Amino acid sequence: VKAPALAQLAPVLEAGCDRLADLIARTETRLEEVARSHGDVLGRFAGETLGAGGKRLRPMLVYICAGDEDSEMLVRAGAAVELLHMATLVHDDVLDGAALRRGRPTVFAEGGREAATAVGDFLFSRAFAELASTGSAEAVRILSSASTALARGELMQREDAWSTEVTVERYLERCELKTARLFEAACRLGAEHLGPFGNRIGVAFQIFDDVLDVSGPPERTGKPRGADLVDGTVTLPLILARERDPDLAALDLSSTVDRRPSTEEICDRIAATGALDDARDRALAFVAEAKELLSELELGERQRRTLELVADGVVERYA
Ligand code: IPE
Ligand code: IPE
Ligand code: MG
Ligand code: MG
Repeated sequence: VKAPALAQLAPVLEAGCDRLADLIARTETRLEEVARSHGDVLGRFAGETLGAGGKRLRPMLVYICAGDEDSEMLVRAGAAVELLHMATLVHDDVLDGAALRRGRPTVFAEGGREAATAVGDFLFSRAFAELASTGSAEAVRILSSASTALARGELMQREDAWSTEVTVERYLERCELKTARLFEAACRLGAEHLGPFGNRIGVAFQIFDDVLDVSGPPERTGKPRGADLVDGTVTLPLILARERDPDLAALDLSSTVDRRPSTEEICDRIAATGALDDARDRALAFVAEAKELLSELELGERQRRTLELVADGVVERYA
């Protein structure tokens, strides 16, 4: 999982030159320090989680948006965003009952609910401590508002579990809360005026994640195919497919697995309706909107090119 993730962001790193590579390397060092800072058990779980090969896309956004800056404060901001991201994933895996992430067992699978809750809490608290250490109250406000949105998004997802009533609008609102606000915050920490750009690519990113959940393959995503179907998360591919395939619409997905078609079969049926292509198109429309926003801003040439590569990358990504 690690190699393709890096290969996929290689054009971004290349466009960002030594400065970006150096900032990411400093972020890794900082994340290791933070993981080790509070005892062995937290250190082991947090260290494994942080070291499991995430793409570091959100810190990259902080750095690219910040232009030429390369201060220690900036690294703290990038590390804080990644810590918050990891905290939400560790808790998300508890909520989703997920066994795999990044191709490895989740903290939930390995240590159980209690350990995963504590590790997530630890990562949350460290995220804010990291930002507080920069002395910027505004930075703390930006990240806490994203964190609040995330919590609302996760709750909304639980509320909508198994529902056949979820509209595209409601789905997009959830993407906004659960994913786009953190992308927006990452960009704003780099440069306030790039927030809306981050928001659009965040929505695109979540839509594409939901497409990958149905399309797989697991070797590409590091997660089992159809995980969202199994935990009741109603995503855009399913919403669109139900509009087209009445049998699929009539299927009670919450009934026990042996009383309905297999998850693989349901994924294939969703794909057969063309819903994956249409969902991908919706994601691409958000990418286009993001790039449109860039064209209206005054940016350095390298910065513009790098942000465009990130925008294109979010719908071609390897999880
Ligand atoms: C996964 O995010 C969670 C979503 C918002 C879909 P990433 O795909 O950025 O996770 P890592 O950090 O690279 O594993
Ligand atoms: C992203 O949603 C999780 C958060 C934004 C907290 P998903 O539930 O789709 O993410 P994965 O698929 O588990 O990575
Ligand atoms: Mg999940
Ligand atoms: Mg997902």
